[in-house]
Amino acid sequence: MAKLFISFLTFTVALASCGGVLAFSSSSPAGSPRDPFPPAMLMPWFCTTACGYNMSQIMDHVHQAVDLATHDASILNTVAYEWYSLGPNSTLVVDLGMFDLNYHILKNDTLTALFPRRFALVSTNSSSTHQFIEWMRQLFETPEPFVSAVVDDVVARNITGLNIDFEPTSNNITNEDAANFATFLNLLRQRLEVHNKVLTIAGATWSPIWNLTLIAQALSGSEDSNVNSTIGYFTSMNTYAKKDEAFQRELNRNIEQFGTYGSLKSLVVGLETWPTKITPEELDNHFELLAQHNVCRIAIWDMPLTPAMLPHLKNLSHRCTHKE
Ligand SMILES: *[C@@H]1O[C@H](CO)[C@@H](O)[C@H](O)[C@H]1NC(C)=O
Ligand SMILES: *[C@@H]1O[C@H](CO)[C@@H](O)[C@H](O)[C@H]1NC(C)=O
Ligand SMILES: *[C@@H]1O[C@H](CO)[C@@H](O)[C@H](O)[C@H]1NC(C)=O
Ligand SMILES: *[C@@H]1O[C@H](CO)[C@@H](O)[C@H](O)[C@H]1NC(C)=O
Ligand SMILES: *[C@@H]1O[C@H](CO)[C@@H](O)[C@H](O)[C@H]1NC(C)=O
Ligand SMILES: *[C@@H]1O[C@H](CO)[C@@H](O)[C@H](O)[C@H]1NC(C)=O
Ligand SMILES: *[C@@H]1O[C@H](CO)[C@@H](O)[C@H](O)[C@H]1NC(C)=O
Ligand SMILES: *[C@@H]1O[C@H](CO)[C@@H](O)[C@H](O)[C@H]1NC(C)=O
Ligand SMILES: *[C@@H]1O[C@H](CO)[C@@H](O)[C@H](O)[C@H]1NC(C)=O
Repeated sequence: MAKLFISFLTFTVALASCGGVLAFSSSSPAGSPRDPFPPAMLMPWFCTTACGYNMSQIMDHVHQAVDLATHDASILNTVAYEWYSLGPNSTLVVDLGMFDLNYHILKNDTLTALFPRRFALVSTNSSSTHQFIEWMRQLFETPEPFVSAVVDDVVARNITGLNIDFEPTSNNITNEDAANFATFLNLLRQRLEVHNKVLTIAGATWSPIWNLTLIAQALSGSEDSNVNSTIGYFTSMNTYAKKDEAFQRELNRNIEQFGTYGSLKSLVVGLETWPTKITPEELDNHFELLAQHNVCRIAIWDMPLTPAMLPHLKNLSHRCTHKE
């Protein structure tokens, strides 16, 4: 697998410059940060090569998404895909062996129109999950060259923004790490917004690295009217919970932190396809709770979507696009 370590000194790869501008769905009063997501949104994560899918499987996933977006669930208007990861010493790793979903979409006008938002993950290196906290600490200490490299690359490739998916498993993570993580996210959000790009993060509650209060502040944007600020989004993994009680508890916790921060909505509720684990009753209950809370922005790990989930997505799409 060809891997390219990009640092801001060595980043010389000339990519076609792309002048795409995002269509913003809502305008905000002066001084209020922009909320660039549409009111109703379904964002599936494509794990593609990182999950070991071959090309024909990946094409099946793309076709499933196209089919849903075209027929039953028009809110499937955003995609996320594995692409970057963090290396040691604040380096950006682009694994060129990975399937490039963004490029695949952009070279086809129909697909580009269907999926105007494409988020690249910055993943945790799965062979270094224990060491990963050390790499995160190096990043927090010295955000460059990683930040420059990733922002430049996102702009050059005409990617909408990032989905930071750092999942360190070390047992010595401290509140200080959590505070530094939130500070880093705020910096990255600001650096992206200058280029009209958007920060999303995948977060959960099983590690102290995610302090939801601090992350909500980092994602909330600046109220300063001199700054053209853009909010970021928390795509929740704690709501992958299977049992109803846990799902409800984690959903409530996220709504409390991200659903009402300032006047903005920074929450995208994450669901898991759980092909064999979740029961039809649990699925009913989870979608019922989403309806009760008027949740219209969801993300799903990962493609392909299970048949049992499809009627729920169709109904959610209908509910969220036919409001009074
Ligand atoms: C960049 O992305 C936007 C949004 O999807 C798209 O409208 C535009 O055509 C893209 N530009 C290029 C040069 O691919
Ligand atoms: C892709 O993987 C699937 C599932 O493992 C397999 O059935 C199929 O034959 C593979 N296709 C190719 C072209 O390798
Ligand atoms: C990271 O930087 C330190 C200090 O400059 C150096 O000793 C170390 O070899 C670097 N590690 C990697 C993996 O580049
Ligand atoms: C673009 O994608 C659509 C939807 O998958 C497909 O039907 C069409 O054939 C593609 N066009 C080209 C030129 O590949
Ligand atoms: C993940 O880490 C291992 C060992 O630290 C390294 O060999 C590998 O290249 C890394 N993979 C990526 C995608 O950075
Ligand atoms: C924290 O744990 C990681 C492994 O999980 C280890 O590499 C690191 O040295 C530890 N740091 C401290 C300060 O104990
Ligand atoms: C999150 O950080 C704040 C500010 O440092 C602190 O007061 C709070 O206790 C932290 N929350 C958790 C759950 O650790
Ligand atoms: C902020 O950025 C958006 C998107 O580029 C633009 O439409 C808007 O005019 C900008 N607002 C100000 C006050 O610069
Ligand atoms: C979807 O909505 C229809 C019409 O309201 C209803 O009959 C059906 O049971 C719903 N399906 C699911 C899976 O909730």
